[in-house]
Amino acid sequence: MIRVEDLSVRFGDTQVLHDVSFEVAAGESFALVGESGSGKSTILKALAGQVPVAGGSLALGDAAGAMTAKARARQVQMVFQDPYGSLHPRRTIDDTLSEPLLIHGLPDRDTRVLAMLDAVGLPRRFRFRLPHQLSGGQRQRVAIARALMLDPPVLLLDEPTSALDVSVQAEILNLLKSLREEKGLTFLLVTHDLPVVSFLCDRLAILKAGRIVEMAGVEALRAGQFASPYGRELFDRTVHG
Ligand SMILES: Nc1ncnc2c1ncn2[C@@H]1O[C@H](COP(=O)(O)OP(=O)(O)OP(=O)(O)O)[C@@H](O)[C@H]1O
Ligand SMILES: [Mg+2]
Repeated sequence: MIRVEDLSVRFGDTQVLHDVSFEVAAGESFALVGESGSGKSTILKALAGQVPVAGGSLALGDAAGAMTAKARARQVQMVFQDPYGSLHPRRTIDDTLSEPLLIHGLPDRDTRVLAMLDAVGLPRRFRFRLPHQLSGGQRQRVAIARALMLDPPVLLLDEPTSALDVSVQAEILNLLKSLREEKGLTFLLVTHDLPVVSFLCDRLAILKAGRIVEMAGVEALRAGQFASPYGRELFDRTVHG
């Protein structure tokens, strides 16, 4: 569902991704981990068409070949870390969820918005509220709902729970897991949190300075068995402080 081959990205003179390659099968959940600045978000942005690609190739979703921005939106959507910054403060939840339907000319707006509120566990009476009337966890449910309005097969999740209280994190992780199972979604998830990888993902890639230094299954992560020195270092630092 996702194929990244020898991806390179530059910002000016600085190359931030070097020959990154990985594949994610349909229905699989794949994590990108690595220290701050290693290029995790840049990979997601390249897949979402938000940064120019300097080299290599990307393939995504059910559709073959080059895609317009509009076609890409049907294949892949992104969920960001900050549920406060990612929602328009003066648009109601209904506006936010209806917008993709209007842009893509999809019918049955009322039915679809209500069904999506149900799917993400938000009470229907929240439909005409503004973001500031919602908690952080509720806002993140709205962001997930918005991402799913066009029924894309792929979700790109950039630290979707790290801005939330610990108790709320678990609720959102459970929601993501059940939505993935129900809809057969493919996830590409960026996180600093190895327990989140273990809960939600099948495999992971470890990035360092714009290169993948190791790929592993989640069993290896659970056992702390990494092949690369950097993988072990990251594991020791994250799990044992
Ligand atoms: N628009 C941009 N212009 C210039 N440099 C950028 C831009 N976006 C990212 N970078 C640089 O690219 C590198 C990788 O950034 P990226 O945001 O992908 O890191 P990250 O792994 O997501 O880090 P974090 O865990 O802190 O979110 C960093 O050195 C960053 O400063
Ligand atoms: Mg990032």
